[in-house]
Amino acid sequence: MIKYTTNSLNETLKLGEKLVKNFDTNIIGLIGELGSGKTAFVKGVGQYFGIKNITSPTFVVMKIYKIENNKKYNNLVHIDCYRFEDYESLIDIGIKNYLNDKKSLVLIEWADKIKDSLPKETKYIKLKLGKKENERIINT
Ligand SMILES: Nc1ncnc2c1ncn2[C@@H]1O[C@H](COP(=O)(O)OP(=O)(O)OP(=O)(O)O)[C@@H](O)[C@H]1O
Ligand SMILES: [Mg+2]
Repeated sequence: MIKYTTNSLNETLKLGEKLVKNFDTNIIGLIGELGSGKTAFVKGVGQYFGIKNITSPTFVVMKIYKIENNKKYNNLVHIDCYRFEDYESLIDIGIKNYLNDKKSLVLIEWADKIKDSLPKETKYIKLKLGKKENERIINT
C-alpha cells in the first residue's frame, strides 16, 4: 500500500494519470466519502487515454468510453454505486460482461457497497479528505 497526498484537484488528476500505468488488474474499486476525489481520480485515468469528457455517472450509474490506440484496454467503464444497495441491479445493466473482459478497465465509485460481489483481483483505492481544504489522502 502506498499513501499519496494531493493538494489540488489537478494533483489528483495527475495521480490517476500516473497510476493507471501500474494497474495489474482491470477492476479498480474506489472507496471514499463525498468529495474525496473518486471522480477526479477517474478523470485523471481518462486523461491518460486521451478521454476528455468524463463526468460523474451518479445519475446514470454506468458510462462507457471507448479507448483508442491502446494495447491493454478497449473501454473505460465508469460506475457509481452511490445509489445502489445491491449487486443485482448492476447485473441487470450488464456489469458482469465488463468485469470479465480484461480489455475493459472498470472503475467503480463507492465500491464498498458491492465489495462482496466483486472479484478477488479487484484493486481498491481509498480516498479521504485531508486536514486542509484541498488536501486528499489517497491510499493505493
Ligand atoms: N486534492 C484534491 N483532489 C481532488 N479533488 C479536490 C482536491 N482538492 C479539492 N478538490 C475538489 O473536491 C471535489 C472532488 O470531487 P469528486 O467529484 O472527485 O469527489 P467524489 O469522491 O467523486 O464525490 P462523490 O462521492 O460525490 O462522487 C471537487 O470539487 C474538487 O475540485
Ligand atoms: Mg464521484
